[in-house]
Amino acid sequence: MAQTHELRVKVHGEEHVIQAADGANLRKTLLSAGLTPYTAITRGVNCGGRGICATCGVHFEAGEPAPVHWHDKLAARFGYPRLSCQIAIHNAMTIAIIADKVIWGARDPARRFGISPRCQID
Ligand code: FES
Repeated sequence: MAQTHELRVKVHGEEHVIQAADGANLRKTLLSAGLTPYTAITRGVNCGGRGICATCGVHFEAGEPAPVHWHDKLAARFGYPRLSCQIAIHNAMTIAIIADKVIWGARDPARRFGISPRCQID
């Protein structure tokens, strides 16, 4: 039996749980589940998963893989959304679809200025 991983997807105040095959592409998995990472504008105008347009970004809450794509290295450093089209699922993950983005989505507020949620000072 093929290995699967639990993918938790938070969007519009709901949490969806998907079982994803090991190595599955995150963007394709989301689209197959009817949970688009795109907006009304970018749904029809995107690069189709080539890692060029940066419109498929999602925020990670758990299970974030190490950055490989150049954009994801910036995302990891500055808190930008990660490109779902450049992520293969090899472990359990919890992500948040950015419901209020127009094109790319803002930085994760908790990670602005390099402050990680795990070491935030109140
Ligand atoms: S779909 Fe264009 S960067 Fe992911």
